[in-house]
Amino acid sequence: MTRQLFTVLLLAAFPLQTCCFSSTSTGSSNKIPITLADEVDTAQAFALSSFPIQPDDLIQRAKQVLAPDVGIGTKDGGKCLADDFEFCAAVVGPIKKDAYLNALGTFKLEDSFDIHQNLFGFTVSPIQPNRVYWFSHANATLVADFAGAKVENVKEPLVFPPQCFHMDFDANGLVTEFGFYTVDRQYGNTGGLGGAFGFFYGVGKPLPIREAKPFKPSFKFRLIQWVGRMGEKLQKNKT
Ligand SMILES: *[C@@H]1O[C@H](CO)[C@@H](O)[C@H](O)[C@H]1NC(C)=O
Repeated sequence: MTRQLFTVLLLAAFPLQTCCFSSTSTGSSNKIPITLADEVDTAQAFALSSFPIQPDDLIQRAKQVLAPDVGIGTKDGGKCLADDFEFCAAVVGPIKKDAYLNALGTFKLEDSFDIHQNLFGFTVSPIQPNRVYWFSHANATLVADFAGAKVENVKEPLVFPPQCFHMDFDANGLVTEFGFYTVDRQYGNTGGLGGAFGFFYGVGKPLPIREAKPFKPSFKFRLIQWVGRMGEKLQKNKT
């Protein structure tokens, strides 16, 4: 069970969809971009950074690692991973390199689902110049029975909340950390759950642990909100 859990959480493959639209000019080229006072001067940050791999090259490197033939270490025997690699997602992890690689191959989500990862927005953090961020807006259609869920009973595709991924590299371009977090729990039909939890929940077979259930505020938090609302009411009644 734990092994399987790990496996599905690691999402063995992230097929990259290369798709190109030629951008039509909207006449915005002569507009001066807005720079907020609180924005990081990324050019300066990267110029001051001692990390040897330039942002554009680091993004290329991340895409190489994500490509199906490497599969974040799952298809290249872990060659792209540093020895101190850790997988760490919102709920699961940190998991060390050996455990990460050993957890693979038990069963694969892509055997049961037609998955569109819909990746976009690759960027390098000016604060951590060895880190690439990107998003997914994934959806998945059940094509073979999964976790006791029958294909004929799950007609609607699973639509996942957007998720933010990160991948850290060492100076040699080896991955030192990989993980992802859900960034909008109201979107989609997987209860706001990302990663493997979303697949189980989405087909109606949620895993029996609190972390694999949709967010629910604690009793204390609801109490605080109720007290706040009562306070507002009392204020209104006074005025
Ligand atoms: C899933 O993603 C694919 C590829 O971007 C898209 O064509 C399709 O409309 C999406 N399906 C749903 C239900 O969002």
